[in-house]
Amino acid sequence: MPRKVRLGIMGLGTVGSGLVELIKKNARLIENKSDVKLEIVRALVLHKNKPRPLPPEQVTTNPNDLFEDKTIDLLVEVIGGIHPAKEYIVQAFDSGKDVVTANKAVLATHGDEIFNAASRNQKQIGFEASVCGGIPILRAISSGLIGNRVDELYGILNGTSNFVLTTMQEERVPFSDALAMAQSKGLAEADPTLDVNGMDAAHKLMILAELTFQTKMRFDDVIVEGIENLQPIDFETAESLGYVIRPTAVARRMEDRLDLRVHPCFVPKNHPLATVRNEFNAVIIRGDAIGEMVFHGKGAGSLPTASAVLSDIVEIARNPNSTPLWNPTRTIQSAPVELASRFYLRFPIYDRPGMIGMISTCLGAHGISITDAIARLTCTETNQGNVMIVIHSAPETEVRKALAEIQESGALNADPLSIRILEN
Ligand SMILES: NC(=O)c1ccc[n+]([C@@H]2O[C@H](COP(=O)([O-])OP(=O)(O)OC[C@H]3O[C@@H](n4cnc5c(N)ncnc54)[C@H](OP(=O)(O)O)[C@@H]3O)[C@@H](O)[C@H]2O)c1
Repeated sequence: MPRKVRLGIMGLGTVGSGLVELIKKNARLIENKSDVKLEIVRALVLHKNKPRPLPPEQVTTNPNDLFEDKTIDLLVEVIGGIHPAKEYIVQAFDSGKDVVTANKAVLATHGDEIFNAASRNQKQIGFEASVCGGIPILRAISSGLIGNRVDELYGILNGTSNFVLTTMQEERVPFSDALAMAQSKGLAEADPTLDVNGMDAAHKLMILAELTFQTKMRFDDVIVEGIENLQPIDFETAESLGYVIRPTAVARRMEDRLDLRVHPCFVPKNHPLATVRNEFNAVIIRGDAIGEMVFHGKGAGSLPTASAVLSDIVEIARNPNSTPLWNPTRTIQSAPVELASRFYLRFPIYDRPGMIGMISTCLGAHGISITDAIARLTCTETNQGNVMIVIHSAPETEVRKALAEIQESGALNADPLSIRILEN
């Protein structure tokens, strides 16, 4: 006899509807492969009168219809946001149900409370879909690569910002046009703030890092820089130097500390991340047994994300008593870490004599040297322009100080831009 799992689905938007579609399409296949028979009991939505992939009698706006239904074994949370998602997840555990969620924001900000509620009720939580959509990266870290000590993982965790940067690179359009193209293709939310300011990737990085390093972190310790200030000229310069610009996320063990950061990066054209284009995601894991391994695929979208949700549902059904993926009792400090890096710098200047000299003198005073004389001045009719400079590896604090001094000199007409350069 197959093991029957009765599901409640909180949310029937992009992911929830994809889940219903995938279960309808592949339920028989899943049963054949796993001996797990899935049945959707009821779904929760906010607005009663939208078209739904389930009959009206299976759709409710009252969450208690799911919590109080003793026949439901597992609740899928795909409403998104922090409240009431967090309260619903906790209540699901307290009602004796396992939970699968795709919600990185709630896990990154209220992970403790959620994991405590799961363990208090001896229930399972699955969250594969919360990071990199369809790529089974959490399962790889917690199972396939369990025999490795992993000291570093990095990659592209946000498909919207990767689409925007790829489009700016390849079409030479401004940020606003590239973002509008992402929105018209359904690859960006109406409010894309969390995607373009790096917070969405930071939420995912935190989940990945906590799982990889088995530790608790403070979200505030993640260095987060967005992509909003990049201009077509940055992509032209990157191209001429042999780079593309990608939205990267990095988690690195540095002895007893962790370096966690999300920022755009110059990536050499022959690096694996340079081939990750548009809405695709990738994670590169460095383990002591496997060396470097690349995971690449669709990081979002209805069916890819539903695929990850389904994998959690089946995993929980097959292993109801497995130990939790994450043991949050150990802690490694995550800040501050003093790092050195090569940088691309852009200074928006007024076109006055001596600008390049002043900038290079100030950089030199901080022990920062310019590589290969790559500096260009492009001025407009408004007598403003940009100086672009690439520097040798330098401590990040010195770079920050030099940029602040140059800005204070009054020579700039806007904030300077600094982008780290990924070494091959
Ligand atoms: N979209 C993706 O590609 C993707 C990828 C990975 C992870 N995720 C994560 O998956 C989650 C869901 O994303 P989504 O794109 O599917 O969102 P969505 O399209 O906005 O759908 C949200 C659904 O939740 C319902 N809902 C919202 N607030 C509710 C509330 N207070 N009570 C009851 N129902 C409520 C909405 O109801 P109505 O339909 O009535 O408005 C809608 O059906 C998010 O955490 C997101 O970060 C999404």
